[in-house]
Amino acid sequence: MREYLEIEGGYPLRGEIPVSGAKNAVLPALAATLLAPGTYRFTNWPRLLDLCTMLELLERLGARVESRGEILEVDTSSVEGVEAPYELVRRMRASILVLGPLVARFGRARVALPGGCPIGKRPVDFHLRGLERLGARIEIRHGYILARAERGLSGAEIVFNVPSVTATENLLMAAVLARGRTEIRNAAREPEVVFLGEMLRAMGARIEGLGTDHIVVYGCSGLEPPREPLRIIPDRIEAGTYLMLPGITGGEITLLAAEPRHLETPILRLREAGLEIEAEGQRLYARARGPLAPLEIVTAPYPGFPTDLQAQIMVLMTQARGLSFITENLFEKRFQHVFELRRMGAEIDLDDRTAVVRGPVRLQGAEVEASDLRASACLVLAALGAEGISRIYGLEHLDRGYERMEAKLSALGARIVRKTHEERETLGPCGPGARG
Ligand code: UD1
Repeated sequence: MREYLEIEGGYPLRGEIPVSGAKNAVLPALAATLLAPGTYRFTNWPRLLDLCTMLELLERLGARVESRGEILEVDTSSVEGVEAPYELVRRMRASILVLGPLVARFGRARVALPGGCPIGKRPVDFHLRGLERLGARIEIRHGYILARAERGLSGAEIVFNVPSVTATENLLMAAVLARGRTEIRNAAREPEVVFLGEMLRAMGARIEGLGTDHIVVYGCSGLEPPREPLRIIPDRIEAGTYLMLPGITGGEITLLAAEPRHLETPILRLREAGLEIEAEGQRLYARARGPLAPLEIVTAPYPGFPTDLQAQIMVLMTQARGLSFITENLFEKRFQHVFELRRMGAEIDLDDRTAVVRGPVRLQGAEVEASDLRASACLVLAALGAEGISRIYGLEHLDRGYERMEAKLSALGARIVRKTHEERETLGPCGPGARG
């Protein structure tokens, strides 16, 4: 049985959408609970498949997890395990985030090596070389990363070739328990890295330079869970996804509980395209006025235009008058959505890392398959703006990162339902009895 979203497009959307807590902030925060035994409390946590995977991993390591209304509680007092099995890592690459905390606290870890990914090679060499710099011995055995530092980690200078979000997070978590001073150069500056650093500070760590590309950590011998519950920051990618809606469907929307300061570049670019966007405190209001203008978009680490919004802005650009150029600089295969968008009538040419989008076109509803998380969001946007009915398959990707998407969109007047598709048993040479 496969689930799909059935969307009847072509209706303008109007109303308010609450923004959820950020997936990419809650995952490292949960991994950080491994650094010190005790009870951690979180609020504004998103109910997502990736969060369930991370909680399952923590439970396997010996943590106790409980959700009480708004509060998510994680007790790591009896954690003894040091292994992240392949079965969980293959579901979610961010499981690699337990590597740093486990080696730092227990002196050893065994974490399945993530494989390739639908959006590109996504190596983990920065994580491993960085841990080696901190004194860990790393071996790859039978598809697992074995990391050892029986006598603890020692501070060092780490320089990344390009800023990596999860590698910065992993090494930040390792460095807070290392002896002495660690410098991370060309560090990632994403708000989620800053959020993790602030959590570590609330646990007693000394960290300077958060939000810059040069982070300095003064290691300490022990940390404690933060005293106050931690509020997960708003999901800037979810917010950015919904901000594009008025340009695709017409209408006007207001995002609630957003953090406009984390969306400066996307907001600037959407305004250039002709969307009217106003920020007021935690509210973001968007509507489209007149025809959209084409854009040149180049994805880059924060504060550049996020790769996690590349697929979504491509849908918006199908509605702009003229040629848009969208260059993907982070993940070499992150263009799988192009092929599905073309099936919906989009005119997009691919030239190596650049997609050239010709607009405006009237998109047409179609049956499409999502290849990854952000591609699935892009197909939902396209279907909402398209004429007729679309069916979107591959919802396991969408559910990893978008909380209650159908409910949020329905509240704006979208015609969207989740349905179950009973796979028909094929008869004949390809049927169940067939021999291959
Ligand atoms: C994180 C986000 C993901 C987002 C991405 C880029 C989480 C859980 N995921 O992923 O949603 O799309 O940032 O904003 O926060 N690289 C290497 N070697 C490494 C690590 C990275 O070459 O060891 C390269 C990558 O292939 C990529 C670039 O560095 O080209 C940046 O990727 P990175 O920031 O590491 O992405 P993630 O942390 O995996």
